Amino acid sequence: MTRNAKAAALPRLRMLDLEPRSGMDAAEVLDGLRQPQKQLQPKYFYDEAGSKLFERICDLPEYYPTRTELAIITDSANAMADCVGPSAVLIEPGAGSSRKTRLLLDSLRTPAAYVPIDISRDFLLASAAELAADYPQVEILPVCADFSGALTLPEPSVPALRNVIYFPGSTIGNFTQDQAAELLTRLRELAGARGGLLIGVDLLKSPEILEPAYNDSAGITAAFNMNVLARCNRELGADFRLNAFRHQAVFDREAGRIEMRLVSLADQQVMVAGEAFSFSRDEHIVTEYSHKYSLEGFATLAARAGFVREQVWTDPQDLFSVQYLVSA
Ligand code: AVI
Repeated sequence: MTRNAKAAALPRLRMLDLEPRSGMDAAEVLDGLRQPQKQLQPKYFYDEAGSKLFERICDLPEYYPTRTELAIITDSANAMADCVGPSAVLIEPGAGSSRKTRLLLDSLRTPAAYVPIDISRDFLLASAAELAADYPQVEILPVCADFSGALTLPEPSVPALRNVIYFPGSTIGNFTQDQAAELLTRLRELAGARGGLLIGVDLLKSPEILEPAYNDSAGITAAFNMNVLARCNRELGADFRLNAFRHQAVFDREAGRIEMRLVSLADQQVMVAGEAFSFSRDEHIVTEYSHKYSLEGFATLAARAGFVREQVWTDPQDLFSVQYLVSA
């Protein structure tokens, strides 16, 4: 059945529901586990338990990206608002709690509307309702959708001058370079000729900083990683023994990325959706890439998608960047 778009009427909120699939896709999971290098897609981290664990990761002392990006936005929100300009529609794919958006909304001049897009309907509605209460002058138009698929955007009720996509958090780093180029191309098309993209991009740095960020001492990232196996058990009737796998995160210098893995502690067989998978001891499943970029490296990627950089803001240690890109 084609996606059935329907508007859920809520006081002061109009939600466009593109009815994304919320559970795991058995065929996709099986396909990943059948590959010579077994893999599970990182989007499967984010069920309710995983989303809560991710919120905790963002507050960890070792996990520098969130607080660094927040500091960059706090310091330069006015300059960012100048790039966005007046009467813009701000569109945020994978908006989550919209925590970083508030800093920007505080500085924007007469935004035409804010369009948060998220797959999690309840989470989206709850945070959209809070934003609507706190920003009564901004029209909030949530869209429940998987932003990696086709998107329809709602029309704001006041005329807008341009669309600006807001994509913080270095989520772009979780895509391979080819996937990232494809996604950026779609975001450029969504922004339109006069639009822009305000994007958070994590920067290359020493493994001494990177590896602890994904191997925190409280074990929250390990729990976040292991949750994907628990999710397979819950949703696909798999029989992963959680104590027979361990979390691992390593920095691959050549590829410029953190690779998150689940390593088998024994020779074992696991059933997933009725199919048997053999694991030898020390064999791993790749669960996530988190690419780190140099400023030049990201400019090259952005150029592949037809973007050119207009502005870049970094922190004093050059850990993280926020960049404003426009159509080349
Ligand atoms: C969402 N994404 C940008 C996070 C990252 O840093 O790649 C996900 C994450 N994985 C482990 N810790 C955080």
